[in-house]
Amino acid sequence: MAKDDKNRTTNDAGIPVASDEYSLTVGADGPILLQDHYLIEQMANFNREHIPERQPHAKGSGAFGHFEVTKDVSAYTKAAVFQPGTKTDTLIRFSTVAGEKGSPDTWRDPRGFALKFYTSEGNYDMVGNNTPVFFVRDPMKFQHFIRSQKRRADSGLRDHDMQWDFWTLSPESAHQVTWLMGDRGIPKSYRHMNGYSSHTYMWVNGKGERFWVKYHFKTDQGIECLTQEEADRLAGEDADAHRRDLFNAIASGDHPSWTLNVQIMPFAEAQDYRFNPFDLTKVWPHGDYPLHEVGRLTLNRNPTDFHTEIEQAAFEPNNIVPGIGFSPDKMLLARVFSYADAHRARMGVNYKQIPVNKPKCPVHSYSKDGALRVDNVSDPVYAPNSKGGPAANHAYTEKWEASGEFMHAAYTPHKEDDDFVQPGTLVREVMDDAARQRLVANVVGHLKAGVSDEILQRAFEYWRNVDRDIGDRIEKGVTGG
Ligand code: NDP
Ligand code: HEM
Repeated sequence: MAKDDKNRTTNDAGIPVASDEYSLTVGADGPILLQDHYLIEQMANFNREHIPERQPHAKGSGAFGHFEVTKDVSAYTKAAVFQPGTKTDTLIRFSTVAGEKGSPDTWRDPRGFALKFYTSEGNYDMVGNNTPVFFVRDPMKFQHFIRSQKRRADSGLRDHDMQWDFWTLSPESAHQVTWLMGDRGIPKSYRHMNGYSSHTYMWVNGKGERFWVKYHFKTDQGIECLTQEEADRLAGEDADAHRRDLFNAIASGDHPSWTLNVQIMPFAEAQDYRFNPFDLTKVWPHGDYPLHEVGRLTLNRNPTDFHTEIEQAAFEPNNIVPGIGFSPDKMLLARVFSYADAHRARMGVNYKQIPVNKPKCPVHSYSKDGALRVDNVSDPVYAPNSKGGPAANHAYTEKWEASGEFMHAAYTPHKEDDDFVQPGTLVREVMDDAARQRLVANVVGHLKAGVSDEILQRAFEYWRNVDRDIGDRIEKGVTGG
């Protein structure tokens, strides 16, 4: 075995190279030779350094840490990761949604909160946001929603007109838009915001009893937000402010943490609950379902190679583990397909063999071959087989019931389902006068930036539906009337 001389440049094959500075030429002034394969390797690798950025959530930052269970929730789930005393390695990636890879961290936008738990029963991914709700409740509208937030076809510009066009024609967006235009629409840093599953998930305990749950990761740093003016200034001064804040905090030993709490609904209560508990535009008021502590997430290690560890990280809501299941939330069920498909498109079929995506437990799958496979495949390569290969087990089927005709339809409404009730509560009962004033100012500023007349009228009506007074103030602020 050769001695590893770290001061010697080699090419990618480990062969020592002759020069870091000069290409191979015929004489000092002569043409470059085709056999300068090291120069060619340098140019070729450079030309292929970028992989496509994520479609939404392109700008992000990440870190490693662990999740430690602090309370006993084994009565609700048998998931190994949530059993008393368990400590699990984790990876997190925070992100904005609409901006590209180089966009400012402080644009008003929801923030992604994507967590990978490397559990003893396989990777568990909780791919949430810093908001408890979302803009739409049917996956058919997700792609349209994201396009309305990104860039126009003609000018390549972002456009408030198309944002408000989509929002005002989609009243189910009112809760998330109210949240977004309020103080929490621009967190002070990734460390100063909560994370939510937003979706309802199922938990199953050791006796096979089922529960519906929502996750709330509450920041131990406290909630802090930026005003629009502070955010605009920072966008110019330091577009990477949140990335820098996270990296520097961890590097200096100031390890941020979040306390995971869950709301738990007994399985049978979903049927008649006053709000549809699977509708992603609604929360479960804490008065109905209080928070139960589960454990603490701590981030204590920065990436050493941003590209391989963060850019190539593949989070996917389909990664759930025994004891945790999906719910009938249509958005969640669509996401169970979408993310793995995005990873295959962005990184190729063997993306789970990239070290950051690799489970830290044994893998016995029947996947085989494909571009850039590095893990060996062994026989038998098919199932069922009589050769001692791994066998699946029906016990892992997750169960809830569904029946009905095929149709394109909205959810059957529950007693108090209404798109404007919960945003109205947020404005009237959670925000104080000063927060309401900032909400009005933020919306007025947004609407004054290029929204056409007809859409403006719809926007005033939308806000009056959230709250009559807020709507009137917004109209006055925009028209000066
Ligand atoms: P609670 O009074 O029990 O909870 C209010 C919640 O609002 C708290 O979780 C608080 O977070 C959060 N909050 C405070 N200020 C803001 C803000 N400017 N923007 C967004 N959220 C804020 O009431 P309910 O549970 O009955 O919910 C009332 C309304 O609060 C809901 O309609 C919803 O809009 C909002 N909300 C509810 C949540 C839930 O899961 N029930 C979660 C988040 C918001 P914190 O505890 O961190 O201060
Ligand atoms: C990223 C699809 C709704 C949170 C993405 C990506 C896709 C996608 C394709 C890029 C994945 C990648 O290339 O790595 C969808 C679809 C949705 C949906 C189809 C609805 C039908 C949501 C919701 C949330 C969410 C409701 C939060 C509760 C995230 C996060 C990321 C992401 C955090 C970034 C993950 C990372 O850091 O790598 N989404 N999404 N998405 N999405 Fe969604």
